[in-house]
Amino acid sequence: MLKPFTPDSALPPQEAGWDENLRFAYSEGDAFWLTRWTAKDGWEPGRLYEHRGARLELSPGAAVLYYGEGVFEGLKAYRTRAGKIVLFRPRDNALRLRASAARLALPAPPVEMFMEAVTAVVRANARWVPVPEKGSFYLRPVLIGTEAILGVRPAEECLFYVFGCPVGPYMGGEKVIVLSAAHRSAPYGTGAAKAAGNYAGCLRPQKIAKEMGYVDALYLDAREDRYIEELTGANVFAILRDGTLVTPALGSILPGITRESVLTIAREVFGWLAVERKLAIDEVLADAAEAFYVGTAAALFPVTVINYKGKDYIIGDGQPGPRAKMLRQALVEIQLQERPDPWGWVVEVPV
Ligand SMILES: Cc1ncc(COP(=O)(O)O)c(C=O)c1O
Repeated sequence: MLKPFTPDSALPPQEAGWDENLRFAYSEGDAFWLTRWTAKDGWEPGRLYEHRGARLELSPGAAVLYYGEGVFEGLKAYRTRAGKIVLFRPRDNALRLRASAARLALPAPPVEMFMEAVTAVVRANARWVPVPEKGSFYLRPVLIGTEAILGVRPAEECLFYVFGCPVGPYMGGEKVIVLSAAHRSAPYGTGAAKAAGNYAGCLRPQKIAKEMGYVDALYLDAREDRYIEELTGANVFAILRDGTLVTPALGSILPGITRESVLTIAREVFGWLAVERKLAIDEVLADAAEAFYVGTAAALFPVTVINYKGKDYIIGDGQPGPRAKMLRQALVEIQLQERPDPWGWVVEVPV
């Protein structure tokens, strides 16, 4: 059942179970935003509902439940040291959600609706946005087909909702493994969409990787099983011995917003040569001085070991590299308004 949200229904953080030691985990905040779409009437005006205790009512026949017609987004609100609350490139998340929706024949929420939803959720949950040392406020926009159907076809009823929760600093790992029997996405498949099913397919490789002591599986391309793609939830970069920054070209990987930001910072802030192209695993193992992965959750995290065909390869000198550190610092400082943002990436949320 969903109850409309009123600011009075918010509990003080202590009573609501505010945890000082935040992890990357789901929790219920004060309010979340939801709207419905039907093929006949289009989008309803969205509104805020109480998040605590909220449950969605779905038909057992809802399209998302077995045909997997669902896409989502992930972005963060940050509290700056000056006390402002800011979002990082939220319009790019809106555009990516529209592209993902199109790939799965879902109706694409207009960019302005997406912005209204995330802004409303941040404002209603402003007291849950942690100070920078403690973490950030993770926002999850979700779009699902809810019509009860039996044959395979696009749903004509959908929900679009946005919730958020405070999350702690990302606890990453520096070791990844190429698993020979698992690909994430195929050429012309759904790899470039943030489709729920892409993640279902990654659960088993990720579980095996973790059991073997690695943070995640590093996927290679499905056609030749040779070119690096990405991790389950992050894009990958290498810095070659000649100083070139290389990341796999778009196609069957998720077009990460952090990936694009890192390319821009490397080129425009540091003046480095940064290229998007096919990047063979052999080339990385033989010639990478540094490697790292990037994404909203992790920001930027170094890779110091890659396991390939059963052997651990040390990247560079086995320590987090200096250029990865420079990029991470620049990215985080831009996100927190501590460094110039000539691209207009950071959007303040008035609270
Ligand atoms: C598969 C995948 N690749 C890359 C990324 C990084 O994308 P972004 O930088 O937009 O968070 C994510 C995270 O959303 C992801 O799930």
